[in-house]
Amino acid sequence: MKLSPMSHSSCEPLLSGNHPDLFHRSQVLVVDDDPMICDVLSQYLVQLGACCEVVSNAIQAADLIRSRQFDAILSDIYMPDGLIGMDLLSITLEHSPLTPFILMTGRPTVDNAVEAIRMGAYDYLRKPFNLDYVELTLSRALHYRRLELENRSYQEELERKVEKRTRELQGFLLNSVQSLSNALEARDPYTQGHAQNVTDIVVQLAHEIGIDESHDVALRLAAQLHDIGKIGIPDSILLKAGKLNDEEYEIMKKHAEIGYRILSPIPSLSEVSRYVYEHHERWDGRGYPQGLKGEEIHPISRLLMTAEVFDALAAERVYKKAWSLEKITAYYRDNAGKAFDPEIADALIRLIEQKKLKPRHSTAA
Ligand SMILES: [Fe+2]
Repeated sequence: MKLSPMSHSSCEPLLSGNHPDLFHRSQVLVVDDDPMICDVLSQYLVQLGACCEVVSNAIQAADLIRSRQFDAILSDIYMPDGLIGMDLLSITLEHSPLTPFILMTGRPTVDNAVEAIRMGAYDYLRKPFNLDYVELTLSRALHYRRLELENRSYQEELERKVEKRTRELQGFLLNSVQSLSNALEARDPYTQGHAQNVTDIVVQLAHEIGIDESHDVALRLAAQLHDIGKIGIPDSILLKAGKLNDEEYEIMKKHAEIGYRILSPIPSLSEVSRYVYEHHERWDGRGYPQGLKGEEIHPISRLLMTAEVFDALAAERVYKKAWSLEKITAYYRDNAGKAFDPEIADALIRLIEQKKLKPRHSTAA
């Protein structure tokens, strides 16, 4: 007779029965306070080729379930040490949800059986049991676990492939978009590097205010494409060396809407087209083209606007010198809550103070 609390492990792959490949070296935990049941089951399971761990104490069984993965668990419902089979079932579902859990009891009721299955038990055995029936139930349980593991592995492989393909497509899209943006900048030498600068700033700003990295691709696309609508602005206005008059400025303002119209029919850029449309809206509602206000403007559009203004102020133009970082900081302080979302303006000032943003030299020809 075994010691109490009993615990032992046996594994002698004798390979017998009708399902040798299922039982072969499968890890089966048997939990029962009746030493005779434990002996009978463990000897039978070892004959079938399983590695059998036997525990007569539910607390010890709970520790084992938390620390190891079993291929199947056979557990008595009623045990004398506080925990019962239903508790072990809950622990198994939490720590090892793909392990089939089979409850056993000598005091079966319909309510017990229904409750066990409702809680997630794989099956329910009445004691005394026929060992052939135990073998059949356990072989179905092991088969179920094998299928579930294969299914999970297949899903994980599929997810890895989809993720890899998505990254490749995003890289392809970003490269194409960068080419498009370079084409625009080739037309307007005074803004060369502007899209890339805005991209670098907007990503730093997004991280500074805690926007999740999962938005980086949309941020980069929006930053690269924000001025793409300037393709539709006449050279006489786009390339004018000097300040625009009111009429010219009204035409230039149309670039936000033109950009939206270019991008919105492309399904993968429909979200980005909104940010492009809104990248000249102001927190106080005095921006264009829609005059949106505060949180009506998408947070990414607000980031884009804040970053674009920084790059414009920090760059040298024919009609103006590059602003110093002190002057830019003062400008953002004055305009937080007016032109800019105050939280984003504060984040930009922090980046300047941390020397993460620097003035850039004009690359104008
Ligand atoms: Fe713009």
